[in-house]
Amino acid sequence: MQVKKAIIPAAGMGTRFLPATKSMPKEMLPIIDKPVLQFVIEEAVASGIEDILIITGRGKQAIENHFDYAPDLELFLQEAGKPELIEQVRYIGEQCRIFYIRQKVQRGLGDAIRIGRRHIAGEPFAVLLGDTIIDPPNDHAQPGLRQLLDAHERTGGSVVAVHRVPREWVSRYGIVDGKPCGEGDDLYRLQRLIEKPSPAEAPSELAIAGRYVFDAEIFACIDETREGVGGEIQLTDAMNLLAQRRPMYALAWQARRYDIGNRLEYARCFLDYALRREDTGPALRDHLRKWLEQ
Ligand code: G1P
Repeated sequence: MQVKKAIIPAAGMGTRFLPATKSMPKEMLPIIDKPVLQFVIEEAVASGIEDILIITGRGKQAIENHFDYAPDLELFLQEAGKPELIEQVRYIGEQCRIFYIRQKVQRGLGDAIRIGRRHIAGEPFAVLLGDTIIDPPNDHAQPGLRQLLDAHERTGGSVVAVHRVPREWVSRYGIVDGKPCGEGDDLYRLQRLIEKPSPAEAPSELAIAGRYVFDAEIFACIDETREGVGGEIQLTDAMNLLAQRRPMYALAWQARRYDIGNRLEYARCFLDYALRREDTGPALRDHLRKWLEQ
């Protein structure tokens, strides 16, 4: 069955970006001129997703406005003689159907996903964290989520993206324990998953990287999941249950990942994109060269 639906959890408070996130969702932080969440939605659409449910919360109205029509802005741009910008502001909301549900109390990532149960209606579905940008390693590679969906179609199981991190970082992530499916394969059959383990208890350095494809059975597993790390209902703990019941895989992909929930990663992402763009790259490179020589 082809996966056409996705959930994007975007309800977090973004405390690491205060005061910027006092009145602006962290998912709307810009990378030059495009909000992080737009990158995430474009990846989903490029991967074949047609229906996206965004889990929002209080103070997240800017997200709905961004993906809606803005007739007054379009009129202004028309009168200002900038029709090319009209296309840019209009197309975002037209690529797929976007729905919203608000999470009233923040009880963790697992709880946020559970809110989407009725919308998903028993189908397999994707999850993309709204504060993570995934860049394919080169121009010819498939979008990040597409790589996961291919692995899901090949195996029929749930699949989570992982990337290798230094051991001293494992306590920031969900860590997986699995066996490679074949020689030189980047796919692992999962046995166990642990959320934010200490370096001593981590079974590997493979960290969950913000993209998932789930069998709808995950909802029953979330129901059975008790509060875990940080007193929250952790998605990773529910996945650990799912791995005991259904085939579950991790794909160790080559994609570049930016965790925008982290200030340094955000700065790195902004800089990488600015350096790559034709309108900002050459001048910024000159600037950096001079700056480094000082
Ligand atoms: C969440 C997940 C974790 C995953 C991480 C990826 O943690 O719980 O398993 O590795 O996202 O960014 P958070 O960053 O919300 O603490």
